Order: sequence, then C-alpha cells, then structure tokens
Amino acid sequence: MLRNRSGYKGSQSQKANDRDHDHASYLPTTNRHSAKIVRKESKYLLVCLFLISFSIVMYFQRNLSKEKGFVTVLNIPSNEKAHEITNNVKKFSDNQSWPGHAIEDVGYPLVRKGTNFVNDMREILFTPDSKGKTLMDEFIQIYKNRPDKVNMCGIRFNHALALFVAVKQLKPRLVIESGVNAGQSTYFLRHAKKDMEIIAIDPLDEPICGTKKRWIDDSGQTKYYTGDKFVDIAEFDWIGMAKNSSITPSRTLVFLDDHQEVLQRFPSLMKAGIRHVIVEDNYKRGEGATQSDRDGQTPKQLFAFRRKKDNGTLNDANWLYANLVSYAEFPALIPPIMSKKYEGTRKEAGGFMFHDDKNTDIVPPILRSDVNSDDLEKYKQIATKLGYDPELKDEESYMQFMNYNQICYMDLLPMAWRLVDMW
Ligand SMILES: C[S@@+](CC[C@H](N)C(=O)[O-])C[C@H]1O[C@@H](n2cnc3c(N)ncnc32)[C@H](O)[C@@H]1O
Repeated sequence: MLRNRSGYKGSQSQKANDRDHDHASYLPTTNRHSAKIVRKESKYLLVCLFLISFSIVMYFQRNLSKEKGFVTVLNIPSNEKAHEITNNVKKFSDNQSWPGHAIEDVGYPLVRKGTNFVNDMREILFTPDSKGKTLMDEFIQIYKNRPDKVNMCGIRFNHALALFVAVKQLKPRLVIESGVNAGQSTYFLRHAKKDMEIIAIDPLDEPICGTKKRWIDDSGQTKYYTGDKFVDIAEFDWIGMAKNSSITPSRTLVFLDDHQEVLQRFPSLMKAGIRHVIVEDNYKRGEGATQSDRDGQTPKQLFAFRRKKDNGTLNDANWLYANLVSYAEFPALIPPIMSKKYEGTRKEAGGFMFHDDKNTDIVPPILRSDVNSDDLEKYKQIATKLGYDPELKDEESYMQFMNYNQICYMDLLPMAWRLVDMW
C-alpha cells in the first residue's frame, strides 16, 4: 500500500496496517509477524507491571495508614514507659481515642501501678446476672433512696459508685471511714454490704455544709467515733487489734474522706497489715477544697511532682509508689464533654470536671457517651431514672455527674511482721 505523506485516506485498519508497515516494512514476513506478537506481549507486560506496582503501592499505603491510624486512635505516647490503660482504653472507649494514658512510674500527671478491680468497672457494673439485673441497676435504686439528695460537702454519683463497687468487690469485714459529715458515705457503705462492721470517724457531732441531720446507721454494726468520742484514724491501735484478732487487716477497707494529709495515715495502717485504701480527696495539682488538699500531698499530686522543682516530693512519691501493690484512679461515669450545655463556670476549688478539660490527666470514663451511641443511651437512662437532665444544663444535674476528684484505690504493701515491732 502506498502511503500518502500528507495524510491517511484509507480505513482505520488500513491506517493501523500502515503504521505497522511504517516500522516493519523492512522485515521479512515471518519476522514481521513475531514483531507484532512481541509488541502485543509487551503491552500485556506493561499492563501487568502497572497492576503489580499499583497493588504494591496500595498495600503499603493501606498498612502505613493502618499503622498511622492505630497510633492516632490509641495515641500511644512515644515514651517507652507509657502505657495506655490497656484494659480501660480497649474496653471503655470502643477504640476511640482518649488523651489520658497512665504511666507506670512517678512524675506524670496520670499514674497507675499494677492492675486491680478498678480496671474492670464497666464489666462489673453492666454485666447482667441470671435474672438480667446489673450492679448498676442495684446502685441506681440505692442512689435514688439516699438520705441527702444534695450532699453539699460529700460524695455524689461518681464517688458513691466507686465506693459501692469497691465494697462489692473487696467484700470487707470492716470499713474504717474517716470523714463522715452527713453520713451519706456511711449510707452507701452499709447498703453495699449488710454484714460488715463500720468504724465511722469524725471530730464533729453535727454535719457541716447545710445538712441538718447526720444519717445514722442503726444496724448495730457501725461504731461512731464522732464528737467527744473522736479519735484520729492514725491514733487507733490497729496493730493491737490485728494482733488480738479483733480486726482482720486483709479484709479491712479504709475510706479516707477527711481532707487530711494522706501519707501520715499510712504508717499505722501498714504496720497493722491493712492494705485496702480509698482516697476520696485525690485532688489534682493546684486544686483542693482546703489548704491541706492543695499542699501537694494527695496521691495524685505526689505522683505528679515536677522533676526539677519538687525535689522534696520525689522521695515521698517514690516511697509511696514503691510501697504499693497497685494504684488506680476510678473512672467517672461519663466524660467532661457531656456537660457542654452547662452554663456555669469552672469551680475554682476543683473537684469538678469541666467540658473543655483536656483529659490528659484522667482515666477514660466508664461510658464513652461522647462517641458511642449505646453508651449514650445507657447514660441517658441512668440520668433520667435519677431525675436529672442528661444534658446537665442545671447546676444540680451538673454537680451530680461532673463531681469527680480522681478518687483512687490503693493496695498497700503490708509491712513484714518482724519489722512491725521494731519500727
Ligand atoms: C467531705 S466531709 C465528708 C463527707 C462524707 N464522707 C460524705 O461523702 O458524705 C469531710 C469531713 O471530714 C471531717 N474531718 C475533719 N478532720 C478529720 C479527721 N482528722 N478525721 C476524721 N474526719 C475529719 C470533717 O468534720 C467533715 O465532716
């Protein structure tokens, strides 16, 4: 076929043939045929190469983004000592990020040691029994019937729940309660377990903060060391009582809600082998209802000492940490963001979560009502059953669910018996 250099006039196939001819006309016919095959094959080869490289790129991209996604989701700190609170983050947060990650060492705003029941609050509270009832159902009934609906200077939802679960889990024979005030915490203790003794300690005979009457446990199993009978918890002869078996140290729970320096309470308890302690006033740095709360001596403040500035605290923090079997801050029910409709201001003394908290220094809440619709539903039901607005717009609803002081459980290392008499 003759080729018109000014343009093709023939059919498409002719044009194609001409193009082939253009390059291959000098080849013998058989060679020309194989050249066609080679060109065809190289086209396939190119397509295959493209597909393979595309798959490789996709593979790496997917895996890298997975990796990146994982880091973003759990936000694992680069510090090798850092632990996300493994169970909590996985179980509570539905794999959604939570900024606070507890570190197993002192010198951090959020610290933990070992594991204990506090890490399983969600399961403990929401796993139904054979009748379909949960511990949360039981708690709600008890909470509804509490004697003082406001309990101005005392525990509200989060802390009452922590105390209730601790008693259910630890099943103590004796609870030593330091700081009774209106008796609200005594009420929760008694309703969590009927058959245990309570030693209730308070220097005052009458409650402060506007409550007219103290709730008194009439079960006959609570001994009151209040008013004239007051003895500070550090002054009791716990060692003598342990030795003559009038207390069982391993089955004794101490509830500290007296705004006194925590560390000072420990020698007499540890010497007696008492190990289970709950500290209610576990204020963050700079927060506290009293000067003593703000003195840097709560477990949270001690553990969060600033390495360069607080040299004196370092020894105390290290000593306390070393003498613990475990330490965990109880989670609040819901995250601070749930109070975004609250129009009040942040409480200066602290002890209350606020919607714009950064949450880098608290553990994830029991319910991630901010990111999980089932959890949101659970929370709404709880709030509604108790007669509170789930949006927490009004002061009382806000105070009920946002009052949170990093209440913590510590399992103290009991002192060796041989050393007790020597020290
Ligand atoms: C925050 S209130 C207790 C609230 C109570 N636990 C509740 O949740 O309902 C603190 C109480 O600690 C008491 N207190 C002060 N010093 C104390 C001490 N050394 N030992 C025991 N209680 C003390 C105060 O009189 C006050 O009644």
